[in-house]
Amino acid sequence: MQTPIADYLELLLESLGEDGGEVASYIPELANADPDRLAVAMATLDGEVYVAGEAADAEFTIQSISKPFTYALAIADQGLGAVLEHIDVEPSGDAFNEISLDPDTGRPRNPMINAGAIAAHALVHGDDADARVERIVDFYSRLAGRRLSIAEDVFESELSAADRNMALAYMIRSVGTLDCDPADTVRGYTRQCSVSVTVSDLARMASVLAAGGRTPDRDQVLEPAVNRQVLSVMATCGMYNSAGDWLASVGIPAKSGVAGGLMGVLPGQVGIAAFSPRLDAHGNSTRGRRIFERMNHDMGLHLMASTESAHSVSRRREVDGIAVHEIVGDLHFVEAERVLREFAAEPAGETPVVVDLDRVHRANDIARRILLEGIRRLRLDGHDVRIVDPWGVLGSAETGTGELVRGEQAHGGYVPASFPDVASAVRG
Ligand code: DON
Repeated sequence: MQTPIADYLELLLESLGEDGGEVASYIPELANADPDRLAVAMATLDGEVYVAGEAADAEFTIQSISKPFTYALAIADQGLGAVLEHIDVEPSGDAFNEISLDPDTGRPRNPMINAGAIAAHALVHGDDADARVERIVDFYSRLAGRRLSIAEDVFESELSAADRNMALAYMIRSVGTLDCDPADTVRGYTRQCSVSVTVSDLARMASVLAAGGRTPDRDQVLEPAVNRQVLSVMATCGMYNSAGDWLASVGIPAKSGVAGGLMGVLPGQVGIAAFSPRLDAHGNSTRGRRIFERMNHDMGLHLMASTESAHSVSRRREVDGIAVHEIVGDLHFVEAERVLREFAAEPAGETPVVVDLDRVHRANDIARRILLEGIRRLRLDGHDVRIVDPWGVLGSAETGTGELVRGEQAHGGYVPASFPDVASAVRG
């Protein structure tokens, strides 16, 4: 069977109709781009990538879509507090290249406009400007799952016309919040914008953000808290002065680039990318926007369209007269609460109870604590609780952050017996 998703994407592109807008021309090399190129890609969190369009394999420069990723790296390197001292997180309502700093704090208003993105670039660790760029390209490559490189022609072209970004960097330096040389910083920032990607690369990078900072190969590239910060800022500031309209009408946190790329992230669901070089007045891809609107309409992909979580299942069965609670999927507060209800329905007594976590992909900190507390209470009811946890779901989360109940107290330091599979847990 051919999956209908790829067919859907093809049909979506065919139905877009007339294009509008103009290709970016303030970067001379971008003015030469073929304006009719078109592609779309969707990447699931477990690594499936669907792609459609004649430009499916075309490379284009990432431009401003680099901004959320560099912001993430800056936070990972410096800590959120230090980054917030340099860059605010308020939507500016201004164009992406506006010369705007907060009049009270002197900080760029957010890391998605050029001023904030230049400041974020300077906060990435690196012995010198070249090392900083190298770390940034390495980081993007890890997210894309392949080695990315810089389009030198676009870089040279943009640098030759970077007066406005230079002005921004010198201005940030003048208020005392840029610790690096302004010209070096703009050079590095321009290189970051010139990283060459395909729609599949962008969709895969987006899927890592959608998965809380984790690649399909289970490489935790970003701490969940950093990932959350980046997505929050993307949702409120990613589409510049059309960010409010975008969030209401499209509802997918997104970031656009002047080469025509557009990347969207639906947390817990998918990463999406489109490529079409003609831009609207805000500098966002015209057909890219239409693609996202259609996806929202056709597939209900809107951040605020809350659906009841269907990511996990908990099922009770009996094996040789012993209760086995099989839990499947990702566990967050809502799913863990459902598991607790199943535990609560277990009659008190000295019978063994098996908790089978073999098919749990992961549990966040709060879900792990809830589960441990549930296990402790089963034990207080008299049960001999046996855990099947071959992936270390219960043992891998940290304690002490965002807790509903506190670490050791929560499960009284009790370590339930652990078994490699249900059969041995049932045998005891
Ligand atoms: O700094 C610039 O102006 C470009 N390198 C990036 C701007 C951009 O992509 C704006 N987004 N739509």
